[in-house]
Amino acid sequence: MPKVTTSYVCQQCGYQSSQYFGKCPQCDSWNSLVETIQETAPIHSRFGKPKPELIDLAALKVTEHPRKLTGLAEVDRCLGGGIVPGALMLVSGEPGIGKSTLLTQLALNIQGSLYIAGEESAHQIKLRSDRLNPKKSLKVLNETDVDVIAEVLRQYRPELVVIDSIQTLQTADLQSIPGSLAQVRECAYRLQGVAKELHLPIFLVGHVTKEGSVAGPKTLEHLVDVVLTIEGEVQGNFRILRGSKNRFGATEEVGIFEMSEQGLKEVVNPSEIFLSARQVVSGSAVVPVLTGLRPLLVEIQALVTRTALPVPRRVATGIDNNRLQMLSAVVQKRLHLPLMTEDIFVNATGGIKIGEPAADLGICLSIISSHKDLALPKDAVFIGEVGLSGEVRSVNRLKLRIQEAKKLGFKHIYSSENISSLNQLSKLLFK
Ligand code: TYD
Ligand code: MG
Repeated sequence: MPKVTTSYVCQQCGYQSSQYFGKCPQCDSWNSLVETIQETAPIHSRFGKPKPELIDLAALKVTEHPRKLTGLAEVDRCLGGGIVPGALMLVSGEPGIGKSTLLTQLALNIQGSLYIAGEESAHQIKLRSDRLNPKKSLKVLNETDVDVIAEVLRQYRPELVVIDSIQTLQTADLQSIPGSLAQVRECAYRLQGVAKELHLPIFLVGHVTKEGSVAGPKTLEHLVDVVLTIEGEVQGNFRILRGSKNRFGATEEVGIFEMSEQGLKEVVNPSEIFLSARQVVSGSAVVPVLTGLRPLLVEIQALVTRTALPVPRRVATGIDNNRLQMLSAVVQKRLHLPLMTEDIFVNATGGIKIGEPAADLGICLSIISSHKDLALPKDAVFIGEVGLSGEVRSVNRLKLRIQEAKKLGFKHIYSSENISSLNQLSKLLFK
């Protein structure tokens, strides 16, 4: 391996130095210098040989490689129909959420998989794999040098590779420690080359903290082909697998799992599960939201209580806080409710995150219901975006949402089809 030279480059202004500074001498940003490998040869000499080839798309033959099924339909859905050969896929999530569990399950399902472990010993992985699927086995490699790993992959040509985790890998070409931005980025870049060269699908595990920070996964998102995130409460049983980037399929697909003694089990009927603990009390409203292309019924809970503060609080979990601020203001103004002396807490139950305005109507109704301390009808669902003048607006895929609600026995469906304003609906329900 030729010796490479590295320098520290400011990620904000591009300032270069052979020495590390905590604060960039040029733009004064803190912690922005990252060790980077330098191209020593001038550009024109790199064009010497081999000559770069221009590809004529018309002459290019497309060979469709079939996607590999993972044996877990929920994962296949998030991947857009299975694993594409040569794809570099990032699975990120907090420590303890179930990344190693899920990927061990996949590796066991696909024959000829290789599990590259930087964190756990082969013994630990065996204990886990025996619990998950005692009839099957897989190969394990304990290695953290990315260049050694690349050679092993070229030699053994596995069917699927899991790297657990990208933060443990390193290349000897950089002096930074494993897990640093420079190492994580360079290692992922090298693995991407190997994945494309060998048409080999590679899963990378990436740890993130609650804030989604820590050098690594966030900076990798533009480099990899697919980003899957596992969400949920580490103590709770439900896990949500979310596809947030996919070069080969639809994004925003969601797979729902339950953590069991035998690993992650698919949840076939998520709406039922999400509503199973529901009690029909004031402040509870059901909304059909879309996760990817799938409708899902979620309970919204609001608690409106007298505030002890000069400025009342608006606290949202699972929905956007700004959205809650806006909807609270709309309810206050259009329905003449005295909410300025009330704290408002709103929660989307089951750990789901709602990012679409279709839940507006349900959020508003849960607030009104809690404020009046009157429960909403047990078999009602609410679908609609609420505008600033309190009007109810139509949303996309209304039929699909209504279908899901009817399937689960909801009889009263309030949407822009039968309701024009928040005021009208409130009068109807609370007489
Ligand atoms: P793990 O996959 O190791 O998390 P990560 O790789 O994201 O850090 O698993 C986390 C938790 O899952 C751990 O507390 C044990 C639990 N678990 C089960 O409940 N059932 C199982 O079958 C397995 C393998 C793990
Ligand atoms: Mg792990």
